[in-house]
Amino acid sequence: MDVQIRFEPLGKIVKVRPGTSVLRAAREGRVLIKTRCGGNAGCLMCKVEVDPEYTSALTPPTDAEHRKLGPLLKEGVRLACQASICGQAEVKLPEDPLKAAIRKQLEQNNSDDLW
Ligand code: FES
Repeated sequence: MDVQIRFEPLGKIVKVRPGTSVLRAAREGRVLIKTRCGGNAGCLMCKVEVDPEYTSALTPPTDAEHRKLGPLLKEGVRLACQASICGQAEVKLPEDPLKAAIRKQLEQNNSDDLW
């Protein structure tokens, strides 16, 4: 029986077999998660955020995630290439760094206009 994962903020839902990695599910659903290491926990570009409500929907953090993410694991950050789906899951994709920089600049400009 398939499980599903929702990728936020896109709202994209992908159905996969249990045990499928979040990264593979993203690729099957044509959700872009950029990587450089080919899914070997080397680049840290595949970080996703998992709401505590959905923590048990993913396999426990791997040794590689413990080494690479450290305290970020407690904040719900996982590596999409290492975390596998075992229940109805939801993950949040990080904002694109360029978009985040533009948004931050626009917010700064707007707050400057108020003064
Ligand atoms: S794909 Fe590189 S760390 Fe996950």
